[in-house]
Amino acid sequence: MTDSNLHQLLLERHSIRKYTDRSLSPDDVKTILEAALLSPSSKSKRPWQFVVVDDKDALANLAECKDFGAKPIAGAAMAVAVVSDPAESDCWLEDASIAAIFMHLQAAALGIGSCWIQVMGRDKGEESAEDIVRSILGIPESLKIPCIMTFGYPDENRRPVDPDKLLWEKVHLARWRDNEE
Ligand SMILES: Cc1cc2nc3c(=O)[nH]c(=O)nc-3n(C[C@H](O)[C@H](O)[C@H](O)COP(=O)(O)O)c2cc1C
Repeated sequence: MTDSNLHQLLLERHSIRKYTDRSLSPDDVKTILEAALLSPSSKSKRPWQFVVVDDKDALANLAECKDFGAKPIAGAAMAVAVVSDPAESDCWLEDASIAAIFMHLQAAALGIGSCWIQVMGRDKGEESAEDIVRSILGIPESLKIPCIMTFGYPDENRRPVDPDKLLWEKVHLARWRDNEE
């Protein structure tokens, strides 16, 4: 997707979980990481850090970090673990989430598919996904890992969203109104 119109990008964007073998250019990797570093954060504290992984064995290991939903990591050209420090900001989770989604949107604008893989609060058996990812990537205990973002050229086609199907009932004008009102 190369359309420069942001709203068109938002209509066409999807979570992409299947990728071709094509690798990402260093320029595109830099642009995606720049998007993260450009993201807004509370009080501009920027409590996040990003661990960039393209080693196939490491990607395969990360894909096993939880019981369900992490498999796309194995086929990705690159994964970025989004790490954040609660000691640096009380908005560490919000800031990390925004940085992750900036990367997702920047990737989409470059024609690169990506998907948020939830890490925090997920488990593999008795072990937490965060601890597994921490040990694979050497991330300090004090830091949180909300998600891993996968990146790769799409090997699946997703249709743009039909704007007529958006959930406008979730929008309340001027004051809260229950749907049946
Ligand atoms: C907080 C959050 C957690 C998610 N966790 C996962 C996940 O662990 N594995 C996965 O395959 N997709 C995950 N997703 C992607 C969602 O499943 C996806 O955004 C949703 O199905 C809507 O599809 P779309 O992004 O194509 O519009 C997550 C998305 C968000 C925002």
